[in-house]
Amino acid sequence: MGRLCLPKCKISRILGWLQVILGGLVILVSIMSLTRFYYAGFFLHNEDICHHFYAVKEVYQGFDAKSLSARVQEVLDKLESLQSKLELKLQELEKKKGTLDKVFLEDEIVRPLHSANVALRQIRLPKIEEEEGGGKNSTVKEDPLINFFITEEIRKYITPKENRIGKINLYGTEKVYNTIGHACVLYKNELQKYMDYDIGSYCDEDWNLAQKLMLNGCDPLPRRRCLTRASKVYQKPYPINESLWKLPDDRNVRWSNYRCRNFDCLQSKNPKRGYTKCTGCFEIEKEKLKWVTNSSLSADFMISDVLKKKPGEIRIGLDYGIGTGTFAARMREQNVTIVSTALNLGAPFSEMIALRGLIPLYVTLNQRLPFFDNTMDLIHSTGFMDGWIDLLLLDFILYDWDRILRPGGLLWIDRFFCNKKDLDDYMYMFLQLRYKKHKWAISSKSKDEVFLSALLEKPPRAI
Ligand SMILES: *[C@@H]1O[C@H](CO)[C@@H](O)[C@H](O)[C@H]1NC(C)=O
Ligand SMILES: *[C@@H]1O[C@H](CO)[C@@H](O)[C@H](O)[C@H]1NC(C)=O
Ligand SMILES: *[C@@H]1O[C@H](CO)[C@@H](O)[C@H](O)[C@H]1NC(C)=O
Ligand SMILES: *[C@@H]1O[C@H](CO)[C@@H](O)[C@H](O)[C@H]1NC(C)=O
Repeated sequence: MGRLCLPKCKISRILGWLQVILGGLVILVSIMSLTRFYYAGFFLHNEDICHHFYAVKEVYQGFDAKSLSARVQEVLDKLESLQSKLELKLQELEKKKGTLDKVFLEDEIVRPLHSANVALRQIRLPKIEEEEGGGKNSTVKEDPLINFFITEEIRKYITPKENRIGKINLYGTEKVYNTIGHACVLYKNELQKYMDYDIGSYCDEDWNLAQKLMLNGCDPLPRRRCLTRASKVYQKPYPINESLWKLPDDRNVRWSNYRCRNFDCLQSKNPKRGYTKCTGCFEIEKEKLKWVTNSSLSADFMISDVLKKKPGEIRIGLDYGIGTGTFAARMREQNVTIVSTALNLGAPFSEMIALRGLIPLYVTLNQRLPFFDNTMDLIHSTGFMDGWIDLLLLDFILYDWDRILRPGGLLWIDRFFCNKKDLDDYMYMFLQLRYKKHKWAISSKSKDEVFLSALLEKPPRAI
């Protein structure tokens, strides 16, 4: 009799134990929740309660209770579904006298239990810091967004990294915060996809996902610990005396995310080239004419005329726009170093600039420029911003340019175009900072549209 009973008894015993473990986990989670209530003052007596409830508001400011409770709820849900599965199995076993197989244990019990355990471990509880001297001022220190994301790698990324051996680092801080653009929370799924990779292995070919995130305000993007793919047949670049005015080697670009598969395909006459901005930019013969030959448009200034305004003074600058670096190439010939902004909008603009031997700066309009105050001799802007731009956005950008331009530095607005009726608004914007006007020209672009070009000088700001 005893023998016959043995397998069934054993199974019941195993299931019993599992239920005990599950019960324990539920209790643990409940205790964690209760701890929150304790700190919020639910278990205090008499007058203490009032004190605490007044403090609670301050204490819990900036603390993301919603995310925390969402994460706890997830674990509870996992445990609950496990428990009902176990109970069902138990009933089934009692009825049919079936057996408990290894596959069921592995797939239905051990894995979900493990995943619940991992989820439980990932929950970060805020630290309560009591003020010294036993005061009632305690503050909750929670790092922002810490329970918001689920993907482990993004959580690791945004967790502040304390300096080793408790030292102050060279920036004078105790921790380093890797930040992400807060607009990232609007693109939670895309960002989690972006951060979902195997550490140390090859990244997906997903720069276009990254760029989409950046353009939508998830900027700056987190760093990743995976290896970026490169062209299989990368050739050494041309020497600088040749690279400036030559289309780069097709083999040095990964083309898989573009409509074109080589530089020849990017010519303006090809309607299927896959990009719309700066249409002739990949035609070197056309590019060679820009800023050095007399044009019929009065809004086209020549580099030599601009540099003549400040002989020898213009050494470094920024080209803010969309292009393939031709402005920087021409300025290089004048011994002026120019950094060109570049985004890969349908064509490999960044690679093209770099392969020409110039510096592409991969930034969006969203970002404060990564230069210090009063440092640049020249800002040249073309093709990027025109009549679509919101006036408040333009205002922020102009003030940022003003910040990085040195006193006496030049702002060259090149072929800004807009509707005729909006011209007054934009002119007001460009003139509001009271720059000295070196050049100012308006020419007609089409029936309704006009070009505006200006060469302005930042005044000294001695205060
Ligand atoms: C608590 O903080 C407030 C303002 O931060 C301060 O005025 C007050 O003195 C503090 N109380 C104690 C007991 O430290
Ligand atoms: C570029 O410079 C290298 C040496 O630095 C020289 O061998 C080569 O001929 C030059 N190319 C041109 C087109 O001048
Ligand atoms: C451009 O035209 C002006 C006068 O129209 C002339 O003085 C100048 O030499 C020309 N420059 C070039 C590069 O052709
Ligand atoms: C640029 O610098 C080089 C080397 O110092 C010099 O030979 C050349 O004349 C300069 N070019 C210009 C346009 O000033």
